[in-house]
Amino acid sequence: MARMSLEEKIGQMCQFVGFNYLSQSSAEMSAEEVLNSDSDARYEDLQVKDIAQMVVDGKIGSFLHVLSAEEANQLQSLAQKSRLKIPLLIGIDAIHGNAMVTGTTVYPSPITMAASFSNELAYRIARETALEMRATGSHWAFSPNVDVLRDPRWGRVGETFGEDPFLVGSLGKSMIEGYQMEDFTGSDKVIACAKHLVAGSEPSNGLNVSEMDVSDRTLREIFMKPFKTAVDAGVFTLMAAHNEVNGIPAHMHKEIMTDIVREEYGFKGFYVSDWLDIERLELLHNVAADFKEAVLLSVDAGIDMHMHGPHFLEAVQALVTSGDLPEARVDAACAKILEAKFRLGLFEQPFVEIDAVEDRIFTEAHRATALEAARQSIILLENDGLLPLTKSSKKRILVTGPNANTHTQLGDWVMNQPSDKVITVFEGMQALAPKMGYDVDLHAFNPRAALIEDADIEQAVQAVHGYDYIVLAVGDNSLRYQWKERTAGENLARSDINLVGRQLDLVQALHRTGVPLVLVYLSGKPLAEPWIAENLSAVIAAGEPGSMGGQAIAEIIMGEVNPSGKTPLTTPRSVGQLRMVYNHKPSQYAKQYAFGATTPLYPFGYGLSYSDFEYSDLEIGKVELEESDAIRLSVKIENKTAIEGTEIVQVYFRDQVSSVTRPVKELVAYRRVDLAGNETETVHFEIPVERLAFYDLKMQRCVEPGAFEFMVGASSDDSDLIRKSIHLDKRYDF
Ligand code: GLC
Repeated sequence: MARMSLEEKIGQMCQFVGFNYLSQSSAEMSAEEVLNSDSDARYEDLQVKDIAQMVVDGKIGSFLHVLSAEEANQLQSLAQKSRLKIPLLIGIDAIHGNAMVTGTTVYPSPITMAASFSNELAYRIARETALEMRATGSHWAFSPNVDVLRDPRWGRVGETFGEDPFLVGSLGKSMIEGYQMEDFTGSDKVIACAKHLVAGSEPSNGLNVSEMDVSDRTLREIFMKPFKTAVDAGVFTLMAAHNEVNGIPAHMHKEIMTDIVREEYGFKGFYVSDWLDIERLELLHNVAADFKEAVLLSVDAGIDMHMHGPHFLEAVQALVTSGDLPEARVDAACAKILEAKFRLGLFEQPFVEIDAVEDRIFTEAHRATALEAARQSIILLENDGLLPLTKSSKKRILVTGPNANTHTQLGDWVMNQPSDKVITVFEGMQALAPKMGYDVDLHAFNPRAALIEDADIEQAVQAVHGYDYIVLAVGDNSLRYQWKERTAGENLARSDINLVGRQLDLVQALHRTGVPLVLVYLSGKPLAEPWIAENLSAVIAAGEPGSMGGQAIAEIIMGEVNPSGKTPLTTPRSVGQLRMVYNHKPSQYAKQYAFGATTPLYPFGYGLSYSDFEYSDLEIGKVELEESDAIRLSVKIENKTAIEGTEIVQVYFRDQVSSVTRPVKELVAYRRVDLAGNETETVHFEIPVERLAFYDLKMQRCVEPGAFEFMVGASSDDSDLIRKSIHLDKRYDF
């Protein structure tokens, strides 16, 4: 850094969008649309050759959305022409596979993989994603999203790990470890990015970017908790959130970014802004009179890198020259960015081998992980015995619905993938069911779920004549490359949380034909459809199961795989019940509505199996360990059927009497337990006392003495839990 000019040091703090992505963005967008877009980019009065020259001049240190290895090498070769030959750091939204690049493995979306409650899968998916990213020239995943989802009207549910701070933090930690593997040294790792700091996942009206006004206590106990876990896991970058928090836009929130996360939590990496959010301090939040003031506010608060585009360098340079920003602030940012480049091996080798790409993406091993992840993440919501379909002779299955034979099962942050690298629901059924004696046909249905018409429904009703079963795939479309056809995803919140358009009419019309119907939701959102829950024989929530999703769905329908997924968030009966989370305060349901239930359609942690598991013999005790006291808990689980299966055992706790109100239950441990037919197993947990901590009257993080009830079972619903209390006789301060 001693050899670098001020301009070159600031250059490291500047990020631009890749040339090809730029050119894909619709040229006819107005300046207003460009600012409001979080996905299309265009730089007024800058040509590609101007940006190329800025790289050669050392004025750009990073790019995002570089969608091919060729382009990555092209950009790196420009950087090699700069005075100091500092390589570029290239970031991408590889949030469930390097899926913004064509031909890669698309794993189940975060909300889908969360239903597996599998840290091992989360780690493996991140590890393999890192390999596919480095193969195509990206070094920085804008992942994991550790937003705690508390309003499913929000469009980005699919990108989160759900509503529980402990599960979100735990899975986020596993992904960070998979991406970075401790110190992210070497050419097979990437740096991670925990986002979005903070609290944008319960926007005041469900709309992305809208404000958050939340108490300090809730901020720390719910929204900040996964970020503390991420920092403890060594995440090297954090991304600030679009929204304001209690009147202060996140991009200038010095108390959160610096006082809490850097000083108190000990964050050692660097902050990147979210898309044009420094600009929005002036243009949306109106807290800055011009861009230069916005830059001062955000860099002083903690932002180290600007996403994205021109004028940031000049603003910082002027602020340092005028003394408003100390050069030391630039040095601190530049040092962290260079540290990432050194550790990632970019100084030794900034280029990737183009001809090696094909062998390193969508590999057999990665496909196997994607399939395993889909198998473990799919949730059986209803089954009156219709499933699994057993061996038969000459039975006929018709597969139909808007999501029956499309790529909508891939979820958000995905570019168009080759059809031979995606197994749709129909293709999965077509490959498996005939081996069990079934004929399988497709009735191609209108793929635009929001535009279903009478004719579509009538044709489907006619098509089912002569069939013995219907597999009906409905849900959402959050495919980024079908931006205007989407029904969910970034900047696509909804004012309700049921099926889009006339999908329910379609379901009811097909139900009336009397042909047994297996309903498959393909959506990253909880769908509030009580009629479906009460009237259909079989309902599967397959989330956004990725490249291999159709195969896993077929295996579950045909009984090759025993479903084990559990809902990582609450499914309300209607949007009117919101906010509806399982870890609510004691007074939440002291009263009832005049009409309608106050219970959820499906609780947090819920999912059926073809097996039947029984819990008993819950034992509990406290142990004094040298590093920290812990609660030891054991429980017996019996598989009451001859069908092998997996149960996700959940452990919740409640502080019986506390100095401020606390949730009626909080998840504190979980584990996937595989049981052969009629097998019994005793499962042991050791829970550090710190996991019971909260902020007391004086906002001191502690565990108070007194009685704690532990609840263990198959879901967060009281009817699924066995419980036992323990008394802690001393206070713990953390
Ligand atoms: C978007 C998203 C963020 C993403 C970034 C870069 O606006 O908010 O999650 O990483 O821009 O694509």
